[in-house]
Amino acid sequence: MIISGKELSARLKAEMAEEVKGFPAKYGRVPHLVVVLVGDNPASVSYVTGKAKASAEVGIRNTTIRRPESIPEAELLELIASLNADAEVDGILVQLPLPKHIDEDKVIAAIDKSKDVDGFHPLNVAALWQKQPCTLPCTPKGIIKMLKAAGVEIAGKRAVVIGRSNIVGLPVSKLLLDENATVTMAHSRTRNLAEVTRGAEILVVAIGRPKFITADMVSEGAVVIDVGVNRDPETGKLCGDVDFAAIEPKASVITPVPGGVGPMTICCLMENTIECFKRRF
Ligand code: GUN
Repeated sequence: MIISGKELSARLKAEMAEEVKGFPAKYGRVPHLVVVLVGDNPASVSYVTGKAKASAEVGIRNTTIRRPESIPEAELLELIASLNADAEVDGILVQLPLPKHIDEDKVIAAIDKSKDVDGFHPLNVAALWQKQPCTLPCTPKGIIKMLKAAGVEIAGKRAVVIGRSNIVGLPVSKLLLDENATVTMAHSRTRNLAEVTRGAEILVVAIGRPKFITADMVSEGAVVIDVGVNRDPETGKLCGDVDFAAIEPKASVITPVPGGVGPMTICCLMENTIECFKRRF
């Protein structure tokens, strides 16, 4: 079974659009998401465009603010301070990665926690790890939604997460743990990786290497979630971290790239923006 993140996200966005239609009467306006893009990294430009498109579909007001690669850190921090203070802004997202001369941690921490639609602010991260109410990071949230929509039972399962980033690996491990999976966190220094991944009933791959996970690394019947977005060096086409063609026949459930996790991430961003908006009233 292939889980289409594209279809699931289309359904969820349609439901949100229905809800947002009622907001002007109820709250006097619609939610407003501000996306800040520094520089012109093609992948980032494409992600930001996707976020604007999804906002339009859901009826969320979207402002994309572009600044040059050369923007001084202090100036970016000032921009964030002004967005924090703006009562008409409900969500702030600074597209990552940022240029090397800018301290990402400092920028993330400068965003008002209540407008942090990415769930990257240290207070949101702390709340996640303490099981307190928080804004969940979009990709991990989308992954859990996909597993549930596919009817995958998570409790008691052996889950293996490859990759330990703040954006995906760490938070998705915590969410799987909260769903009562037995979670193994694997990474570039893991010995006998194939042995570890073969033990996975649920395998989440977020390493950013094209087709790194080969068929011999996956057990028959495994659930495989591919977070990778790479260019296939041979064909130049978009591909995941998982060799989809080789693994799809073995997996009980698998996500494609494109059309899998990516659209769910954007969908959860819309949901987080609506949540941040509602909390302001
Ligand atoms: N860059 C890659 N993924 C993300 C994300 O989820 N949020 C932000 N802000 N930047 C990213």
